[in-house]
Amino acid sequence: MKLLEGKTALVTGASKGIGKKIAEKFAEQGANVAFTYLSSIEKGEALEKELQASGTRIKGYRSDASKFDEAEKLINDIISDFGTLDIVVNNAGITKDGLLLRMTEEQWDDVIDVNLKSVFNVTKAASKIMMKSRKGVFINMSSVVGVQGNAGQANYAASKAGIIGFSKSIAKELGSRNIRTNVITPGFIRTEMTDVLDPKVVEGWEQNIPLKRAGETEDVANACLFLASDLASYVNGQVLSVCGGML
Ligand SMILES: NC(=O)c1ccc[n+]([C@@H]2O[C@H](COP(=O)([O-])OP(=O)(O)OC[C@H]3O[C@@H](n4cnc5c(N)ncnc54)[C@H](OP(=O)(O)O)[C@@H]3O)[C@@H](O)[C@H]2O)c1
Repeated sequence: MKLLEGKTALVTGASKGIGKKIAEKFAEQGANVAFTYLSSIEKGEALEKELQASGTRIKGYRSDASKFDEAEKLINDIISDFGTLDIVVNNAGITKDGLLLRMTEEQWDDVIDVNLKSVFNVTKAASKIMMKSRKGVFINMSSVVGVQGNAGQANYAASKAGIIGFSKSIAKELGSRNIRTNVITPGFIRTEMTDVLDPKVVEGWEQNIPLKRAGETEDVANACLFLASDLASYVNGQVLSVCGGML
């Protein structure tokens, strides 16, 4: 029995990295998958083709999650294409690092808009649908940095801490409608986002991880699958850290 048979899921920011692996895992587990991308158009189109082999309904949308109107249109489009929406993974995210004194207003605003406002945008639009069907699951991608902070990432840490507060509130608001909201805080996961880091810095981090290795996208996707499935039907308002023991 596949864990997500008959469910329809949206994964934001799935052209690469963690989002891509979640979309692949969900399709493999029987879900119909809608996913978004923004700048990586070719990768988004390639993923749509790849996932179609799963035999479930698949569609990629070019949609900027940080824009309120685009998020609302996205959810409307998904409903006309798929008829329903059961699971939303708010995964889209960016970094624009810099020490506070050098951080520009634009770096701050961009990261808050893409990482945090996007979660408000997509969750607000999708929750209207889920409230009517009296079921649903939200999984929001935070980071260990949102819990413990990181020098040079004040904007990113604030956005990721904001996701935790937002999600815990929504879990309380929507729980009575059978809508579960949980957060994943990945640690250091190998993707294009972390490929840009200095290998010496990475080595130092790996030494501080109790499991002594970086995580893989599959590690996060597996946790996401658990939270999305009925195996987690009594898990709501929680933060699950996938960080090899870093936190
Ligand atoms: N990698 C890690 O170590 C790590 C650790 C903790 C948390 N996380 C979080 O996990 C999530 C995924 O990270 P990742 O490492 O997989 O990053 P990634 O490889 O850089 O992928 C980011 C994804 O987000 C999409 N995206 C960016 N801005 C968007 C927007 N405005 N609207 C819609 N989609 C947008 C990108 O699409 P386009 O390329 O098409 O623009 C891409 O698909 C992020 O929220 C990140 O903060 C990652």
